[in-house]
Formats: sequence, C-alpha cells, structure tokens
Amino acid sequence: MVRNILIAGMIASGLTLGPRLAAAAGEVEVLHWWTSGGEAAALNVLKDDLESKSVTWQDMPVAGGGGTEAMTALRARVTAGNAPTAVQMLGFDILDWAKEGALGNLNAVAAEEGWDDVIPTALQGFGKHDGNWISAPVNVHSTNWVWINKAALDAAGGKAPESWDELVAVLDRMQENGITPLGHGGQAWQEATIFDAVVLSLGTDFYKMSMIDLDPEALGSETMKEAFDRMAKLRSYVDDNFSGRDWNLASAMVIEGTAGMQMMGDWAKGEFLNAGKTPGEDFVCIRFPGTQGAVTFNSDQFAMFAVGDDRIPAQHLMASAIMAPKFQSAFNVVKGSVPARTDISDADFDDCGKKGMKDLAEANVNGTLFGSMAHGHAAPAGVKNALYDVVTAHFNGAYDSSTAVEELVNAVEGAM
Ligand code: GAL
Repeated sequence: MVRNILIAGMIASGLTLGPRLAAAAGEVEVLHWWTSGGEAAALNVLKDDLESKSVTWQDMPVAGGGGTEAMTALRARVTAGNAPTAVQMLGFDILDWAKEGALGNLNAVAAEEGWDDVIPTALQGFGKHDGNWISAPVNVHSTNWVWINKAALDAAGGKAPESWDELVAVLDRMQENGITPLGHGGQAWQEATIFDAVVLSLGTDFYKMSMIDLDPEALGSETMKEAFDRMAKLRSYVDDNFSGRDWNLASAMVIEGTAGMQMMGDWAKGEFLNAGKTPGEDFVCIRFPGTQGAVTFNSDQFAMFAVGDDRIPAQHLMASAIMAPKFQSAFNVVKGSVPARTDISDADFDDCGKKGMKDLAEANVNGTLFGSMAHGHAAPAGVKNALYDVVTAHFNGAYDSSTAVEELVNAVEGAM
C-alpha cells in the first residue's frame, strides 16, 4: 500500500521508475576488512562495478588486517539470525561455515559461466563444498614477498638478496645506514605472515609437512628450531614501537624510507600504488629469499550466505560480477593480487603483478603451490590460532627457539 502510494507519487512527479525499483530490489550487504588506503581503493572497483549494475552496496567494514576481528563480528551477526549477503573470507573459514549449513548455493551462476573451467583447482577446494559452489573468489594473494624501498636498497649495495645470508647482509647495511631495517607491525597475524615465508625458505617439503600435514616430527624438528632462530634474528631488525602497529603503517614506513623493507603479502603493493609509487623505481618486490619458485597463497573469496529469496538476485549478480574477466583484471591491478581465473591477460599488470601471475602458474605446475598458514589456507582456524599464539609469543621474547618448538608441537596437538 505504502509502496503503491510511493510509486504513484513518483509517477506524478515524473521520476523514472526502472532504475529506482531495480536499485531497491538489488541490495547487497557486504562484510569485509578492506579498510586501508590500498584495500579501500580496490574495494571501490567492486562497489562501482555493482552500482553500475544497479546493485546497492551496504558496507559493513570491520577493521583488522587478516580478518580476525571481521570473523568475530560475523559470528555475532549469524548468531543473531541476521547474516550479511556476502562476506570476505579465507580458505578453511569458508568450509567451516559451509559445514554449518550457513551458506547459499551458486551452482546456477557457476554452471552458466563455466567457473569449473577457469577457476584454479586450488581455489575450487575452498569455493566449493560437497560439490556445490558457495563462494566467489576475487583474487589470489601470496604471502612470501618482500617489499623494499629502492633508495634504501641502493644505499645498502643495490643488490636484492637471494638467500638468507644475503638478506641478513642487506638488513645489516640498512641498520648501519641509520634506518629501521625491517618495517613490521606487532600483531599475531603479521608475525605469522613472516613465519609462512621463513618456514618455506627452509624447504617446500618442510613447509608442506609442518604447516599443511601438521606432522609432529616436522613441527618438532631441528629445522623448525632453525625457523624460530631466523624469526628471532628478524626481530632484531624491527624498531621498538612495533607493538600493535597496523600492517599498512609498516608499509608506510617503507614507502617513506624510514624502514628498508617489509615482509608481507602482496596487498602491501596496493599501499605503494595508492601512494603513487612505481615498482622498479620507488620500490622493489622480491620473493622472500630462499623461496623463489614456490608460493604460499591465500585467496579472498566472497562467501555467499543463505539469505531470503528477495536477496538472492542481487547476491547472484554480485557473484557474477566478481567472476567477470574484465573486473578480475581491473580489481587485481589495484589490490596487488592476481586474478582468480586462469584465462586473464597480464597486459594491464605492473612488473610485480606480472611476476605474481607467472610465479603462481609455475608453482601450480611444479607442485610448489601451498596454502598460507597465516591466512587460513593451510589448516582450520583452531590450528591456525594455536600456531599464531606460539609464533607471536616467541617473537615477543616469551620463549627461546627450543621452547617454541616444544610449544608448537603441543599447541597443534591440542587444537586437533
Ligand atoms: C589478508 C587478505 C588481504 C588483505 C590482508 C590485510 O588476509 O587476504 O586481502 O586484506 O589480509 O588486511
């Protein structure tokens, strides 16, 4: 009734109905943690794309890199019986929600658009549950990157490090040059992100056995002690004010040159680009020394929740928009990640993006592509959080390396 009066009023006032009604019918509420400058710029590509399709975007940002806080907020929403339409989510978290029966079904969209043929198999493992599509992957990030201020590298000899020893030598030179060698934010997920790379640098088999298979022998090995020794060494290059610092502020230190480098996933590139910086000129991107040829990946997917029939058309429109080839290129160019489809040209990507796409494809063929522990693609949240606790306690000096190894074995056993 009210609606009829409203429509009559709109006709009388000469307003066009079509777009307005379409907009009213098509709304998505999206929970995400993309709140840094680079992340927000990328998110705007998605918002604008949907708005051009008359889908209204209701934003539900929950700040906190890596998404820990967002996942807590999500739990509260679902418990209250009020799930958002779509939620940015990582790996095993998606499967956990699917097992709870909370997610919708995207099979119709996926079949019509041939998702099975173009989405990398490694991503399908998290986008599908029991053979049904439940989420739409928007990107592939990877965690074993180092972002180096070019001028600081030049002042430290100019050669990007390719091994652990070369890395330490460059960090030492940066220290002598009076800057903070390693820009870092003291939050558990950030320490875990470095840990991904450090473990991988000690061997792809070692990464797989310890972080994916959770093999107690690998977790408790001498090699794991070496991983913790390397973490302690890296800690010695971090400034005193690192505690609690957000990751994008650590990126800003590298962008400004007060820090030499940051060990972070390729979302960091989004910050450099957002600050107007150019790869090769202002900054250099390398794989964490010793991990060349291997990739620890994480993929942001929008998990689609089971919503009322009235909200499904907009939800499906969003899923379809995310998978559109043009969008996959445009979004990932800004985000720092690479497309979640295998059929996208790298023409629009900068050198780091091109390298990211090539590395991913090669690692996939060579069997050196692994899910990131730090970003929820190696083990479910319970195990991930147990690993976080030990890694961060050691980084903050609560354990020596031998104790950390013992605690790691116990923590994983307790979480399984
Ligand atoms: C990751 C996510 C990235 C980026 C990062 C920092 O987990 O995959 O897209 O947002 O957290 O917030």
